[in-house]
Amino acid sequence: MIPAPIDPAALPASVRLETGDGGLPVVRVAGPAGSAELYLHGAHLTSWTPTGGRPVIWLSAASLFTEAKAIRGGVPICFPWFGANPTDPAAPAHGFARLAEWELVDAREEHDGVAVTLRLADSPATRASAWPHRFEALYTVTVGAGLSLALTITNRDTDAVSYEEALHTYLAVDDIRDTEVTGLESAPFINQLAAMSIETETGPVRFAAETDRIYLDHNAATAVVDGSGRTVSISTDESNSRIVWNPWIAKAASMGDFGDDEWTRMVCVESANVRENRVRLNPGQSHTLTVVFDVTAQG
Ligand code: BG6
Repeated sequence: MIPAPIDPAALPASVRLETGDGGLPVVRVAGPAGSAELYLHGAHLTSWTPTGGRPVIWLSAASLFTEAKAIRGGVPICFPWFGANPTDPAAPAHGFARLAEWELVDAREEHDGVAVTLRLADSPATRASAWPHRFEALYTVTVGAGLSLALTITNRDTDAVSYEEALHTYLAVDDIRDTEVTGLESAPFINQLAAMSIETETGPVRFAAETDRIYLDHNAATAVVDGSGRTVSISTDESNSRIVWNPWIAKAASMGDFGDDEWTRMVCVESANVRENRVRLNPGQSHTLTVVFDVTAQG
């Protein structure tokens, strides 16, 4: 059964549907163990803060909040392609999901967490796009002392389909120059800044320049340890690719929705299925990518 949009009057006490930046609708969650904001535009999570802790998700102060653009920071959903579309150069980078208006279909309090579900389905616009298939996407964000993100795609078409996806998480760090990402030691990666050459990590990922790496066939846990000593652990299910990105100085300056000095305060560690790890679904089949974040040391 296709879930219907939820009546705002039926929301639990910890969830409110309000007007956010740029007049865009935002779901605000204030649960006992954590708080969060989730825009319907792109199903874009823009904040998560465990109660008593510091914000874990980074959002650019220069972000635009308009239906024409993806929000800069937070957790953009890349779907159904990652990066540039391989066949249509005019198609938007990272797919149409982060530019689409999702609908709120469920919100519930469970134990110490609050779970909010948004839905997107194919439309005349998506059927006219570079990925014209019929689909349903359900995205459940569970906010507590940890954060869980689960993206389920169902193939509603009569043919098999394949797609790429990434939960493009921007994490706040104290200083990128004192930050390391663990869990990718010895992993081969595609260096997007060196003609897609294949290289291999020799230790934790450290940052001294623009960094843009895709790791395929990697599903082990990772962690971000920042300059303050805080550790954010990232574990996943049904996610076989990782992307690590920081724009550094010149690329940050070239982006109109990214503050010139903000590159020091963020790192993207994305949980994905891209390139050879793209998902293939027969008609009626579903796939769920899940990522869970926990603050395991406060710093
Ligand atoms: C990363 C890519 O996932 O997203 C980078 O690996 C890209 O190449 C970055 O620059 C930001 O993309 P966008 O489209 O949000 O500017």
